[in-house]
Amino acid sequence: MAFVEKKTAELTVDPFTTIGKEWFLLTAGTPEHYNTMTCSWGALGEIWNAPSVTAYVRTSRHTFTFLEESPLFTVSVFPEAYRKALSFCGSHSGRDCDKAKETGLTPVALAGAVGFAQARLVLVCEKVYAQMMDADCFALPELAERFYQSDLMHKMYIGRILAAFEQA
Ligand SMILES: Cc1cc2nc3c(=O)[nH]c(=O)nc-3n(C[C@H](O)[C@H](O)[C@H](O)COP(=O)(O)O)c2cc1C
Repeated sequence: MAFVEKKTAELTVDPFTTIGKEWFLLTAGTPEHYNTMTCSWGALGEIWNAPSVTAYVRTSRHTFTFLEESPLFTVSVFPEAYRKALSFCGSHSGRDCDKAKETGLTPVALAGAVGFAQARLVLVCEKVYAQMMDADCFALPELAERFYQSDLMHKMYIGRILAAFEQA
């Protein structure tokens, strides 16, 4: 399989299905030193005149450290056949294992960032805005109780899409 670069206007993505149901791998770092994790929360859209991705990452994740240090991150979306690999990357930490080795996924350098050869879509994003979410800002406080009583808060990362790659 080979990637071809597409304009974001050429992509047909239903964000509710792609993010919420299919999930994606969020990856930051360099080919020599990166980490990846599964995400099912996020957004695709437009802000500051740029097609953009928003991801929400708990500060407890190993990937969090990589996101903090990296100017770029990627969103990799996979065919259904890779569901098991995504489940693995969402239930194991890169602190304890090599996720690529365990799943057979192949990291590839794309536009200065790291995606995966088996992905059907990779979005390369430049981090433009990052902000800790704040439990005091909930208009619905029951969500803070439900999601942040025992787990650490999410940090929100907005990245503008620099390049989009789909399989030929
Ligand atoms: C389906 C699924 C969706 C997930 N979505 C998110 C998410 O949006 N944000 C997040 O912080 N963690 C999410 N997680 C949890 C991380 O993927 C998980 O904690 C992972 O092991 C972190 O790996 P790391 O420590 O190598 O970064 C999700 C897990 C699964 C299985």
